Amino acid sequence: MAKLIVLNWKNKVYKTEEALKLAKISDFKNSVICPPFFLFNQIKPAIKKSELGSQNVFLSEQICTGEITADTLRNLGVKYAIVGHSERRCFLKENDRLINKKVLACVKSGLKLILCVGEPKKTKQNSVLNFIKNQLISNLKGIGPGLISKLLIVAYEPVWAIGAGNYCQPKNVLEIIKFIKQTLNSKFHILNSRVIYGGSIDSKNIADFLRYKEIDGVLIGGASVDFKELGKIVQKYENF
Ligand code: PGA
Repeated sequence: MAKLIVLNWKNKVYKTEEALKLAKISDFKNSVICPPFFLFNQIKPAIKKSELGSQNVFLSEQICTGEITADTLRNLGVKYAIVGHSERRCFLKENDRLINKKVLACVKSGLKLILCVGEPKKTKQNSVLNFIKNQLISNLKGIGPGLISKLLIVAYEPVWAIGAGNYCQPKNVLEIIKFIKQTLNSKFHILNSRVIYGGSIDSKNIADFLRYKEIDGVLIGGASVDFKELGKIVQKYENF
């Protein structure tokens, strides 16, 4: 299966000119560009191979000031939404129940979702797997296997590795990703799930993750808006 490269610009880009330059470099097959909402319409006509993703989605289709719904995203030509990113779990206190509603909203509208799970720093080594299993069980509650297996991508993102310059060792990531796949299979009957890794990916370490067949791609934050790094990452990906 082709590896997915999710580029999460967070709130770091707002100028159209910069956005278009980044989008041009990021426009390759299997990349998902996740800009701030207000840049969707500018970027959409500028990309040919990559898809658009949203950094967030509202929990239903009801009216709510300042939010964006799954149906609106689909109408804008956005194919993916990131759900449960740890920055939102932390700063906005998004809890598992809320995230579950967002997951259900995506599934209802047919929007692909990139569900972020991962343990905070204080988690004891022997509780990491349990922590992740509980997140998956509560975040995916009420989801049937048929649709979700086509729509779901899980991103394993240990909280302590995000924006830290300190990535999780690929061998450890491999074990956790295998565990996530087993859990998706045993608890949700999802076969062939896609699970990617995120947390301080850069041009120097990306290949160490992509070389494992079980790691289905990466989610890149900081390096995705750094022109030099991004260029090198694309080169590494294309030579892979
Ligand atoms: P990072 O961000 O690559 O800067 O660590 C990852 C993310 O957005 O989750």
